[in-house]
Amino acid sequence: VNGLHGTVWLVGAGPGAPDLLTLRAARLLQEADVVLYDALVHPEIVALAGNARKISVGKRSGRISTEQRFIDRALVEAARHHARVVRLKGGDPMLFGRAQEEIDALEAAGIEYHVVPGVTAALAAAAELRTPLTSRGLSRSVAFATARSGRGTGEDDGWVDAIVGADTGILYMGVEHAARIAVSLIAAGKAALTPVAIVERASHPDSRTLRCTLAGLARGEIAEIATPAVLCIGEVFAKRDAEALQIAAGL
Ligand SMILES: C[S@@+](CC[C@H](N)C(=O)[O-])C[C@H]1O[C@@H](n2cnc3c(N)ncnc32)[C@H](O)[C@@H]1O
Repeated sequence: VNGLHGTVWLVGAGPGAPDLLTLRAARLLQEADVVLYDALVHPEIVALAGNARKISVGKRSGRISTEQRFIDRALVEAARHHARVVRLKGGDPMLFGRAQEEIDALEAAGIEYHVVPGVTAALAAAAELRTPLTSRGLSRSVAFATARSGRGTGEDDGWVDAIVGADTGILYMGVEHAARIAVSLIAAGKAALTPVAIVERASHPDSRTLRCTLAGLARGEIAEIATPAVLCIGEVFAKRDAEALQIAAGL
């Protein structure tokens, strides 16, 4: 170990498909002494760490805060005993990944750390849908939001303004409350006929897309959604009629 402590890398594992991992992430995994990984990370990605000690720190909603403190402590402990520690997080570490708590713990302990970006779920969903999130004349802004506060049971409504105010909105961790989310958005002024695409398991071979409008979602038209999934809301997600496009292109 160089100096008193090892170094920690907060690494984005991407949305699921192992080949969406960055080359930098793959190299860091191969060189790691310890890897602490999230529940959603594909086993093939974890396996890249070869002989490293691999610790699953998967968490389930409900008990998040105690478990987050456990993860923060485990991370600091790992860096006290090992030179190269990788904290592997689903998607990109800097979006809805509680990275700030881990960064605070590392800074408080005086541990050197770096961040490696990953493909976030919203962008994997856009790829799955083959729909640009921005589009000339249709969408000049994108909001990534979550309806979950992460501070226990209470909710705050900042996410509503974010989604209503943006041309395109992507909601993370929202599928359990999809109907209620749609009701809140319509009540706040989002057009009831705004197209919605729900992308389940983006980048996985069994990925599935469900389409409706905000009104349909509010009425409970979409009954079962497999997780993980994102709610994609905005005019860019209107189902484009292939025939109409061919006519427009003069084919
Ligand atoms: C705790 S957040 C972590 C987000 C992650 N840091 C990222 O950048 O994608 C977990 C949420 O991400 C979304 N998610 C993660 N992987 C996904 C995937 N492959 N397809 C669709 N949504 C996904 C879901 O909304 C899920 O509830």
